[in-house]
Amino acid sequence: MSTSRPRRTSGRSMGHLAQGRMQVLALVNQKGGCGKTTTAVNLAGALAARGERVLVVDLDPQAHATMALGCAVIDEPSVAEVLQDEAFIEQAIQSCPGDLELLPSHPRLSEFEEAAERLIHPDQRLKVSLDAVRDRYDWVIVDCPPRAEGALCANALFASTCAMLVVETGAFALQGALQALRVLDEVGEGQGRSYEIRVVGTLFDRRTRFARELLVALHARFGEAMFDTVIRTSVRLREAPAVGLPVQVLDPSCRATADFAALAEEIVSTLGSVEQPRALLQAGARPQNEEHEESLARG
Ligand SMILES: Nc1ncnc2c1ncn2[C@@H]1O[C@H](COP(=O)(O)OP(=O)(O)OP(=O)(O)O)[C@@H](O)[C@H]1O
Ligand SMILES: [Mg+2]
Repeated sequence: MSTSRPRRTSGRSMGHLAQGRMQVLALVNQKGGCGKTTTAVNLAGALAARGERVLVVDLDPQAHATMALGCAVIDEPSVAEVLQDEAFIEQAIQSCPGDLELLPSHPRLSEFEEAAERLIHPDQRLKVSLDAVRDRYDWVIVDCPPRAEGALCANALFASTCAMLVVETGAFALQGALQALRVLDEVGEGQGRSYEIRVVGTLFDRRTRFARELLVALHARFGEAMFDTVIRTSVRLREAPAVGLPVQVLDPSCRATADFAALAEEIVSTLGSVEQPRALLQAGARPQNEEHEESLARG
């Protein structure tokens, strides 16, 4: 268990973000393998490298973010016990490389989906726990499981100030992103709240014409909600989780470190200030370049 750390100064202003207010980013997409965990761990690393106080919450029973940060749960409490009110969040938090802190996961977290049916307000559990450590962190980055409709994702979204849709710049990305947007909107409506929605492209290979065109289509679709920064494919991003380190620690000068630093900068400077893509969901909302999108969808 870690103790409170004094705040370090990063030498930049919070801009439009409320001073001192903990921001919670939930990284979501029902599509598996699109880069949610990679983005969660390394975006957290990039924010910490700027001097921000960052907590990673691993909300996936696969516990990939936990392993990617070189941590493991044996007998200690994990996020599973925190959500079930069997442990305090402070008891479960671990310190990990890159000046990060982690609320780790364990495969027993998969039992929460079923247990949630017997709980009152099961989707508010994470938020209540995070409220207890509100003064300790500037950012909480939540790595979600691929099942976007379940109780775990609902907890992430209820706690979050921003849902970051992670989109792999590959086949069917556009349809997947729009489907995810619909799920996010439905969950938000069911919870009676709305969080900011932003979109980030990952696994980008500039050499592929399809990927380049898809990126243009994603920008056209999502407008300002889409980050200018795109995370390129990188061997370092495959190596880093295998050695339990965020990429900034493994290789401070590689391009993946640069990509995540750019994403962190964009998040810090634009969060809370861009037009939202919800209008896309309204009946009749069609893309301007529909024909082009359809050809991209066919691949
Ligand atoms: N930019 C990248 N460059 C190279 N490899 C990447 C990149 N992003 C992700 N990967 C690799 O792709 C695989 C899937 O990534 P990741 O685990 O982050 O996806 P995920 O969305 O969290 O998956 P799941 O839905 O199973 O949780 C991993 O092997 C990861 O190392
Ligand atoms: Mg994952």
